[in-house]
Amino acid sequence: MGYVAVIPAAGLGKRMGYDYNKVFIQINEMAIIQMTIEQFEKDRNCDAIYLAARKEEMDSMIDLFSSSHKVKGVFEGGNERQHSIFNVLKNIPECEYVLIHDGARPFVSQDILFELYENVKHKSAVICGVKVKDTIKRIEDGKVKETVPRDELFVTHTPQAFSYDLIMRAYSEAEKNNLSVTDDAGMVESLGEDVHVVTSNYDNIKITTMEDLIMAEAIIKRMVDHHV
Ligand code: CTP
Ligand code: MG
Repeated sequence: MGYVAVIPAAGLGKRMGYDYNKVFIQINEMAIIQMTIEQFEKDRNCDAIYLAARKEEMDSMIDLFSSSHKVKGVFEGGNERQHSIFNVLKNIPECEYVLIHDGARPFVSQDILFELYENVKHKSAVICGVKVKDTIKRIEDGKVKETVPRDELFVTHTPQAFSYDLIMRAYSEAEKNNLSVTDDAGMVESLGEDVHVVTSNYDNIKITTMEDLIMAEAIIKRMVDHHV
């Protein structure tokens, strides 16, 4: 028994500025969402993949993965990322571990998937991310209020890994309390539970704006050139 991947892909991609959902943008003849799913297809600890898609895109999403043995369901997304994810969580069979991963983050490595899975077996909530590269300052009224010590700062990525029971409890409580968060671990934190951290890498970008597409092309070129 391994883990189940829950992949929200039901956004609008507004910040990308295209007239369609960014997860369908093709780079090297492959849609971003296909690249993302491929990483989970490759991971032998991943037992099943469930996606959230927009209602209008449900058929195209199902078509893209019709020959996959691991993609076992596509469910309708909601207005916010957290609603899309909760709708998937409510519809999947009970399991032991869940890895929640943005559809728009195609460069998640096999190493990260392995680290998260190994850790979640003992720790129930594990996120990944990287150290902040820039100096971050808190500003107020156009003036610097303070410089935040950089070694305390961490940029969070996905996947975020949870035991099934904990993430279901966290989502149910969040819904009950109308809690809105930008990452899944935030809900677990609000339960007062520990969230552990493993290191991701700087390639694991979320494709959000046009600049990220250029970055994505560069990452793919490097991977092709170095045969990784
Ligand atoms: N997502 C989702 N349901 C939503 C909103 C987002 O499933 N209601 C998914 C996106 O498809 C994406 C991931 O969550 O794979 C991360 O969200 P984000 O990068 O913000 O994507 P979008 O919401 O599509 O982009 P934007 O915020 O620019 O509109
Ligand atoms: Mg969004």
